[in-house]
Amino acid sequence: MHPFCPGYDREPFRSLASGYPGPDVYPPRDFRVEWGPIFHRGRLDGTARVLVLGQDPATHETITRRILVGEAGQRVQGLLARLGITSSYTMVNTFVFSVFGQGGGTRHTHDPAIAAYRHRWLDALLLPETVTAVIALGTLAKTAYRDWADTQPAAAARLHLAAIRHPTFPESASAAGGVTLADATANLLQDWNKHLPDLRAHVEPDEPVPERLYGDTWQDGDLQAIPVADLPAGSPSWWTSLDGWARRTGTDAQLKRATITVTIPSAARTWPPLT
Ligand code: URA
Repeated sequence: MHPFCPGYDREPFRSLASGYPGPDVYPPRDFRVEWGPIFHRGRLDGTARVLVLGQDPATHETITRRILVGEAGQRVQGLLARLGITSSYTMVNTFVFSVFGQGGGTRHTHDPAIAAYRHRWLDALLLPETVTAVIALGTLAKTAYRDWADTQPAAAARLHLAAIRHPTFPESASAAGGVTLADATANLLQDWNKHLPDLRAHVEPDEPVPERLYGDTWQDGDLQAIPVADLPAGSPSWWTSLDGWARRTGTDAQLKRATITVTIPSAARTWPPLT
């Protein structure tokens, strides 16, 4: 059997997924609206106890139509595993469309129309009182959560917020200069370690796991594969692979914005030898 994500088959998610904002709200100058919105990953059936609020979808998410599926998602899946959370989570992003260009996201931090739609998702997921903790990835997600919390102070008061560094902080910080990838990775892992005890105290695990902190570098098991049950029906199993398989390619900016190249990882090329 191949478990799969049933998608948006119930209200209010059916209406949210059919009535999403378009380019009048998400300007194509700042967002890759041409690839369509990508809404969530995880449980929408009221069983989630943790909400992860990410930033925006990237290449793997664009192909799978679920968020936090690429390396950032696998790092987050590993963090949830340290809380003993294997299935009782939902993830949504600050932006349903992928951010385009430098500053595309920050220009829309408090955008009221973008926030209004996001708040409908957060209301749907956080008002029923089954979620006990929110993990916000990076500063845009933290701000987005705080903006929602201002609109729902009673609900926010009973939620634990862990505003942690974004899982790709090491790559973005080292690319910006001034810090090495190794130092930025150690910094991220120290930050996540700092939040783990409080998160464990506020989250009832699916399966109790011993408390374990991160080291200074990524270790085996720190990244966890995305469960196939989180992906649409019929998803190929290599979509859950820890090896990257989707990237933007193109010899100029036009082509690069228009192209995602998908390559099946070598370990998944299980077809008979080609002659
Ligand atoms: N992919 C997502 O869907 N969200 C992030 O924040 C990063 C990668």
